[in-house]
Amino acid sequence: MDYLQINGGAKLHGNVAVSGSKNAALPILAATILAKNSVRIANLPRVADVRTFLKLIELLGGSCAHCEGEVVVSADRLCGTTATYEIVKTMRASILTLGPLLARFGECRVSLPGGCAIGARPVDLHLKAMEKMGAMIEIAEGYIHAKAPKGLNGTTIVFDKSTVTGSENVIMAAALARGKTRIVHCAKEPEVVQLCEILTQSGVEIEGIGTSELEIDGSGGELLELPPISVIPDRIEAGTYLCAIAMTKSRATVSNMEPKHIVAVTDKLTEMGFDLQIQSDSITISPTERINPIEIVTSEYPGFPTDMQAQFMALAACAEGGSIIEERLFENRFMHVGELVRMGAKIALKGNTASITGMAFLNGADVMATDLRASSALVIAGLGAKGQTRIHRIYHLDRGYERLEEKLGGIGADIARLKE
Ligand code: EPZ
Repeated sequence: MDYLQINGGAKLHGNVAVSGSKNAALPILAATILAKNSVRIANLPRVADVRTFLKLIELLGGSCAHCEGEVVVSADRLCGTTATYEIVKTMRASILTLGPLLARFGECRVSLPGGCAIGARPVDLHLKAMEKMGAMIEIAEGYIHAKAPKGLNGTTIVFDKSTVTGSENVIMAAALARGKTRIVHCAKEPEVVQLCEILTQSGVEIEGIGTSELEIDGSGGELLELPPISVIPDRIEAGTYLCAIAMTKSRATVSNMEPKHIVAVTDKLTEMGFDLQIQSDSITISPTERINPIEIVTSEYPGFPTDMQAQFMALAACAEGGSIIEERLFENRFMHVGELVRMGAKIALKGNTASITGMAFLNGADVMATDLRASSALVIAGLGAKGQTRIHRIYHLDRGYERLEEKLGGIGADIARLKE
């Protein structure tokens, strides 16, 4: 297995370019199941989860061709309707095939994703919505068996809580349903917006895009003609690199990004004392003498993203004063705390709130990655720590960060990927 070795303290400089968004790419790949044409997709991030999803589409009978840095996905001859446990256990976002497969074939079997390091992550809201649209859902042998032999019907779906992939599943199912579907309390993340924009360009009428209430007029089972797509930039990758530059007290630029997608993040960095020069598709961040402590409560978009919570905790460990971070979306998203404490951070947990004392001088150590974003927090801590940090089990990182060590090395970090 690979591990990352980081010698802390190096100053960063220059420009790091952000890749396409993993969390936009996955629903886009799922949406190709709704297409009667071959779909050309640009700016797909080269990360493990995207490779896994492409493999899933091939297992379902589709094909994926790579040409000139783009991927052409042909799902027109799709025939499979089972997302197997073998695939789903490596990528819980496989649940995104539920809505499209059910809408297209009237039946499908999708392995239950099960929990993960950050929480139970049930899919009850996805299933309730499918039943409301006319599907019969049965759980057996760890699989979701969904049937809608007469197709899905438009209806009103009110989500008890905002769910990103739950919203995306319903949006894709509604695109092929008979009649109109109204979604109340729909997620508003930029990745959900891009999915809606793509479906609109495919001829599906959708009102309320970008708001928490959508109305989707379905095609009645008719497959769609999807346009060529370019995946939006990854806002979490952009935020992660801004934190890395901030941690090393450097001045550098994060480019090929969409600043308006991370206003809650840049707002917090400014509050912590960093200077940010925001251009149309890049941000230059400059150091601050004194990192101010911060208070963060994670919430749905456009609030502070839970996917940036761990990275800010690493930064807060070095702030001049006490910070508070409250995690409101997931019940166990503090797996990085133990590892940061091993590096010298002073953090106390009480329920879903972390109190970070600050003023820590982080020391390099052997640490263990536990989930995607926790891993990136350990990278950030390692960049700012004194001495050497080795981060193990970095397959977690590879799920969502493209060529991280190459990109960080390219702006001056002393980082290498080695074999255990
Ligand atoms: C998406 O996960 C993202 N993944 C996550 O990013 C992100 O952390 C999360 O949204 C929140 O923003 C993708 O988009 C592929 P949710 P998702 O359904 O859709 C509860 C990363 O690091 N819930 O919005 O699975 C759930 O337990 C990943 O890139 C139910 O109770 O998250 C959680 O507490 C990690 N029942 C809350 O809702 C359901 O049926 C929000 O979850 C569905 C969700």
